[in-house]
Amino acid sequence: MSNAGVHSNLDKEFAAVSELWSPRVVAIANGQHVKVAKVKGEFVWHAHADEDEFFLVRKGTLTIHYRDRPKVVLREGDFHVVPRGAEHMTAASEECWVVLVEPAATQHTGETKSDMAKSIEAQMAHLQAQGGSDPTR
Ligand code: NI
Repeated sequence: MSNAGVHSNLDKEFAAVSELWSPRVVAIANGQHVKVAKVKGEFVWHAHADEDEFFLVRKGTLTIHYRDRPKVVLREGDFHVVPRGAEHMTAASEECWVVLVEPAATQHTGETKSDMAKSIEAQMAHLQAQGGSDPTR
């Protein structure tokens, strides 16, 4: 699936997100998903064995904690790539808006089973509702 030709606006996509820790796929390119998510509080510790994970903060402050290296604090405009295999946990004391880029198959809780896990299908449900590859939305 692709949504090549899509033309949207980042803040418009964030406005469509009402649930915390519920990534929304906003674009697909070359097998990578671009997602937006609103987060607050702490996520679950997890790792992605085979995938690096790109984070860009649009609004607020995001802390990425690691087990085996110093934490990274991202403020508005900052970005960071979580290396594959590194166990990490994201946290924000106030609501934070994050852009993520990761391979389409990446589960956002990695190999960790959690009630916070949203399926890829749920993250893409709005695209399918709009006809999937329709570039005119
Ligand atoms: Ni992750």
